[in-house]
Amino acid sequence: MKVDVLLGLQWGDEGKGKVVDVLTPRYDVIARFQGGPNAGHSLEFNDVKHVLHTIPSGIFRGDQINVIGNGVVIDPIIFKKEIEGIAQLNIDLTNNLFISKKAHLILPSHRILDEASEKAKGKTKIGSTLKGIGPTYMDKTGRNGLRVGDILTASFKEKYQTLIEKHETLLCQYSDFKYSLKDYEEGWFEGIEALKKFNIIDSEYYINDLINTQKTVLAEGAQGTLLDIDFGSYPYVTSSNTISAGACTGLGVAPNKIGEIFGIFKAYCTRVGSGPFPTELHDETGDKLRNMGHEYGATTGRPRRCGWLDLPALRYAVMINGVTQLVMTKADVLNEFETIKVCTKYRTPEGEKDIMPYCLETEIEPVFTELPGWNQEISSYRTLDEMPDALKSYINYIEMKVGVPVKILSVGPNRDQTIFK
Ligand code: GDP
Ligand code: IMO
Ligand code: MG
Repeated sequence: MKVDVLLGLQWGDEGKGKVVDVLTPRYDVIARFQGGPNAGHSLEFNDVKHVLHTIPSGIFRGDQINVIGNGVVIDPIIFKKEIEGIAQLNIDLTNNLFISKKAHLILPSHRILDEASEKAKGKTKIGSTLKGIGPTYMDKTGRNGLRVGDILTASFKEKYQTLIEKHETLLCQYSDFKYSLKDYEEGWFEGIEALKKFNIIDSEYYINDLINTQKTVLAEGAQGTLLDIDFGSYPYVTSSNTISAGACTGLGVAPNKIGEIFGIFKAYCTRVGSGPFPTELHDETGDKLRNMGHEYGATTGRPRRCGWLDLPALRYAVMINGVTQLVMTKADVLNEFETIKVCTKYRTPEGEKDIMPYCLETEIEPVFTELPGWNQEISSYRTLDEMPDALKSYINYIEMKVGVPVKILSVGPNRDQTIFK
C-alpha cells in the first residue's frame, strides 16, 4: 500500500493532531516524519484534551503502530515526560511505539544554544519555541549530531561529551549569557534510559516492509508549509522540511510510494513567533479570532497572531505539497461574523500579484474580497447538508481558487465534530 501524508498548509497549529486522531482507525501505522518537541498536537475525546509533542497522534485508538521517523529530533527529557503522562491513562506504548535509530537527539546544550542565539538576535529573533530544534538540525547537517542508535553503543557517553565540549566553545561567544548544563543533564540521562525501553529500529526497513505487506501508513507532519526551511518565510521558519517531500526523507519512503496528501488549513490564519504575516489583524477582529479560537500555543502558551485566510499562500502550499484533498478546520470560530474577508492577492511595489513574493517582509499589502458570514452556530452539525449556505459558499470559493476539493471539515476540537464530504 501507499503512504498517505497529512501536513499543515499554514504556519502550524492547523489541527493536525485532531485530524490524525480522527483518521487513525483507517490506518495500521501512524508515523511522524520531522520536527520535534516544538510541535504541540492537540486532540480531544471524552471531554479531555491531550497534547502530544514527539509521539504520533495515533496512540489513542488501540492497536495502531506508531513510528517516530529518522527525520524527527527527540529531546529525551520531554519524551520521558510525555510517556509518563500517557502511562497515567493506562496506555502502555512499549509494544507499539517504534523509534528510528537515525532520529537525532536534542542535547541539553542544544536547548541552551537555541536560547543564547535567540537572545543575541534581539529584535530579529525567530520567536523559536526554544526546544533546541535549530541547533540540533544544524548538528545533523553539519555531521556532528548524536542519533538514537548511538545510545546503544559503548562510546555513547564519550560522543556526548565531545559534542557538549564543542557546544561549550560555541557558547563562549555569548559572553554575557549565563547557563547551567547541570540543570538538564541528570534528567536527560534518565530520558535516555526511558528511550531504551522502546523498540529502537531501522525504521526505513520497517516501514517499507509494512508497505510491502499491504499495511496502510499515515505520515503525520509537524509545523506547516510556511515554516518549511526551504519554502517558508525564511529566516522565520523552523529547521526541517515540513512539506510532503519531507515525508520521503523523514521516513525513508520513496516518492512513488506516496498516495493521498491531506493538506490541512484553518478557515483563517494564525502564526506564533516572529516573521511576516500579510493578513494579520492588529485590531479587535484579530482579538475576536484569538478569543473564539482559543488561539494560544499548545507548546509555549504564547498568544497566536491571528488574521484572515491568505489564498495566494494557500495555493502556494497546495502546489509545493501536491495536495490531493483539503481539510478545513475551525470553521466554527467564524460563527459570529457578519462578513468574512479572504486575501486573494497582494499589492506589491511591482504591482498586484497572486503568487508568494520572494520576501514577504517587503512592503506587500493584502487585497481582500469580502464574503457573507453564516453568523450562526455550526458545531453541532454532523453533515454538510445541515450547514448554512454561506459556509458552503465559503468552501466552494476556496475550492475554486485553490483547485483542490475540501474533503474533511472540522467544526470543533472534539473527534466527533468532523464531517466527511
Ligand atoms: P496542530 O499543531 O496542528 O495539531 O494544532 P494545535 O493542536 O496546536 O492547535 C489546534 C487547536 O485547535 C487545538 O486546541 C485543537 O483542539 C483545536 N481545534 C482543532 N480543530 C478544531 C475545530 O475545528 N474547531 C475548534 N474550535 N477548535 C479546533
Ligand atoms: P505544530 O506541529 C506553530 C514556530 C515557532 C517559531 C518558528 C521556529 O504544533 O504545528 P523552532 O522552535 O522550530 O525553532 O521555532 O516556528 N513553530 C511553530 N508554530 N506550530 C508549531 O508546531 C511550531 N513549531 C515551531 O513559533 O516561530
Ligand atoms: Mg500545534
